[in-house]
Amino acid sequence: MAQRTFSIVKPDAVRKHFTGAILAQIDKAGFQIVAIKKASISKEQAKGFYAVHAGKPFFDALTTFMSSGPLFLMVLEKDNAIADLRKLMGATNPANAEEGTIRKNFAGSLQENAIHGSDAEDTAAFEIGYWFAGYELA
Ligand code: CDP
Ligand code: MG
Repeated sequence: MAQRTFSIVKPDAVRKHFTGAILAQIDKAGFQIVAIKKASISKEQAKGFYAVHAGKPFFDALTTFMSSGPLFLMVLEKDNAIADLRKLMGATNPANAEEGTIRKNFAGSLQENAIHGSDAEDTAAFEIGYWFAGYELA
């Protein structure tokens, strides 16, 4: 059954002009781009989005990075979208990412790893609702 997930082309990838190549890879993999918008988010907005990581050693640097420049917020849809996007993204640390994955192709480091993807149904619902209003997804 069609499922929605939430994704971000992170600021490192936008700065390096990888946006088009990343979107092409997502498109070719069969995802529908339900909604997409460019944004420059504040550190406070990044902290709210990544609240699950509050208190971890990388939280401050991560939220500074995510608020360091424009990014693209997206809602993607396909059968098994959540797991399939995670597979397409590759491991969090690009050093461990499989050949051909987005992170293997485009990520520069563990922090600056090009793309975000929701990891479960409940986090996808929270993340879509955090960045998109219902009327934007109709
Ligand atoms: O993004 P993903 O779900 O694969 O990883 P995460 O464990 O949920 O961590 C969120 C983000 O924090 C990662 O994508 C990295 O950008 C960053 N991170 C980091 O800078 N250092 C770590 N040790 C772990 C994650
Ligand atoms: Mg995660």
